Amino acid sequence: MTRQVTRDKIRVIHSLGAYDVQYLRFSEAMERLPDGSVIVTDENVWSAWGGAFRAGVPVYRVPAGEGSKCLERYSAVIDALSEAAVDRSATIVAIGGGVVGDLAGFVAATYMRGIPYVQVPTSLLAQVDSSVGGKVAIDTPRGKNLIGAFYPPQAVHIACETLDTLPERQYANGMAEVWKYGFIMDAGLVEVLSRSGARDAIEGVVRRCIELKASLVQADEFDRTGKRAVLNFGHTVGHALEKVTGYEALLHGEAVAVGMAIEADLGERIGLTARGTADTVRRCLASQGLPTTHEALSRTDALIDAMRNDKKALAGVPAFSLITRVGECKLVSDIGVDDVRAVLRA
Ligand SMILES: NC(=O)c1ccc[n+]([C@@H]2O[C@H](COP(=O)([O-])OP(=O)(O)OC[C@H]3O[C@@H](n4cnc5c(N)ncnc54)[C@H](O)[C@@H]3O)[C@@H](O)[C@H]2O)c1
Ligand SMILES: [Zn+2]
Repeated sequence: MTRQVTRDKIRVIHSLGAYDVQYLRFSEAMERLPDGSVIVTDENVWSAWGGAFRAGVPVYRVPAGEGSKCLERYSAVIDALSEAAVDRSATIVAIGGGVVGDLAGFVAATYMRGIPYVQVPTSLLAQVDSSVGGKVAIDTPRGKNLIGAFYPPQAVHIACETLDTLPERQYANGMAEVWKYGFIMDAGLVEVLSRSGARDAIEGVVRRCIELKASLVQADEFDRTGKRAVLNFGHTVGHALEKVTGYEALLHGEAVAVGMAIEADLGERIGLTARGTADTVRRCLASQGLPTTHEALSRTDALIDAMRNDKKALAGVPAFSLITRVGECKLVSDIGVDDVRAVLRA
């Protein structure tokens, strides 16, 4: 498949068509919303940006936070759409972070068997990761993203200026995924990030991340061949840590930062990762104010249990995307539990 990259947009081609990821001012993103749009957003984004939403477009607000990715909230949005007689000619517009994007996207995927939706990601994590790739989902008490679909958006409008109101901790949270792209695929990006701290260069950095994600998503739209799975560097340990700590103590990016440090250790331990790489990973993440260790790492049995039950595990054997050196990675699915235990304990 081909990918066209222009200065202002990246075209992502998928099995049902294609969509453009465009870099715009927020006001331009609003101007481009199709007629019949219905906005879904959260209370924080509404407070910060609601005044700049396109006038006259109905807005459905959900409470901020992961708790909104639930069946009850999903049901409430569906009810609101049907009460307002929204039909198949409408377009759902998700303005917010990954929570709003995943919830609104799943609503769009299922309301009347699917209506179009547009992503306007406002958190760094959503701009570099969740808004592109077509994965939409809600959680159940038994698992995160347990109900979902592959449902590509019509368009993704990225207005980097929305990051100006993003709380610092949420910014660092998104940067964890940015560093991850560098570690697995782009040593040059790691260099840029190390030099500049990247806040001034954030627009270019966001574009680069989307280019990298788009290339993997196009090569493996439905996450089946392992190409897309390399995005999981740091996530096997990170997801386990999130689960064991009850999804409260750590933000996703923070858990992934700890996971990347541990998985770099793991790679070095089994001889796959060049010596010294784990030190580099830790130094980079620490410079971003991200954690590289956590007290819950001592709960090795619970963590290993969680890894064995992870969606990505095959027959109870956890899979890892490990870096061979900064900028390159490899999927590995035959790592012994003793090695995992050893790096968690260290
Ligand atoms: N679909 C995918 O491929 C994919 C990939 C990665 C993560 N995710 C999902 O994304 C979610 C996490 O996304 P997130 O980190 O964006 O969380 P989030 O949506 O909860 O946003 C984080 C916080 O920042 C606030 N916020 C967002 N934009 C803001 C802005 N411009 N100004 C002020 N406040 C703002 C939100 O209200 C929230 O409090 C998780 O549910 C995760 O499962 C999905
Ligand atoms: Zn992630």
